[in-house]
Amino acid sequence: MNQRFNHLIDMDDYSVSQWNAMVKLAEDIMRRPESYADKCRGKIMATLFYEPSTRTRLSFESAMLRLGGKVLGFPDAGVSSASKGETVADTIRIISCYADIAAMRHPKEGAPLRASLYSKIPVINAGDGGHPTQTLLDMMTIRRRKGRLDNLTIGFCGDLKFGRTVHSLIKSLARYDNIKFVLISPEELRVPDYIINEVLEPRGIPYIETRNLEGALPDLDILYMTRVQRERFFNEEDYIRLRDSYILTAEKLNLAPADMAVLHPLPRVNEITLDVDDDPRAAYFEQAQNGVYVRMALIMTLLGLKDPKTGEVAFEC
Ligand code: CP
Repeated sequence: MNQRFNHLIDMDDYSVSQWNAMVKLAEDIMRRPESYADKCRGKIMATLFYEPSTRTRLSFESAMLRLGGKVLGFPDAGVSSASKGETVADTIRIISCYADIAAMRHPKEGAPLRASLYSKIPVINAGDGGHPTQTLLDMMTIRRRKGRLDNLTIGFCGDLKFGRTVHSLIKSLARYDNIKFVLISPEELRVPDYIINEVLEPRGIPYIETRNLEGALPDLDILYMTRVQRERFFNEEDYIRLRDSYILTAEKLNLAPADMAVLHPLPRVNEITLDVDDDPRAAYFEQAQNGVYVRMALIMTLLGLKDPKTGEVAFEC
């Protein structure tokens, strides 16, 4: 137990067995959603999004509504009192009077953590430097596709430098047994050194760095594609030069195993062509759907609500 015991700020706040419990609860919700339809009746979720979002915000709202709760939030940061200079600490003190749980996306790394220190209600990090709920839904998707979260070779392709979901998923999967990573990127968008030096090397986890997507495809269980993130570049010319470094097409997918799964946190731009969408290996839309179930499981867990199947809180925080 730590001081963030009833929040989700970073995946490391919880153990691997707690992650597994969360994914299993999400799978049960997916199988029989009607059993959970009233679990949050009378509860309110605040969505505090200071950066754009489609999936994360709306799937949190959908999750709370599907649990029988209600949601409130401002449409964008510009119409909140942050635009008048209000601090995150003061904002969450106020939101604690209006809601029972809050999900926060913020451009400043550490803002959700800071909010959690002043909050009377559970705070969920919906994306700052990390993106833990994306990691949970990625893990659920991998488990549903492959039946396991260990003994996997996982390729990450594209923008591995700025891709926050990539860093978070590598760090989490590195805690499972017999995982191999294939890191496919241009030189300029290599995974940050700390992932190599602080996560992979100390644990002796096998990895290769390569520029060659086609060469890597035959050996992969999972291919995690990413968008080159225009908003993170200081120089538009660099973005234009790098944005189409990797484009997964149906033709290239012929090189991959028949049971490989293609994941992408979305939104996509050019990096997966539309003809891949019809391939059974395309898992990115079900990945977004899994986000609702994982967030339902997380909301229930952080509110201390009991799993109707077992009568237990999903996991003890
Ligand atoms: N995957 C993801 O975080 O999408 P949004 O930015 O639309 O929330």
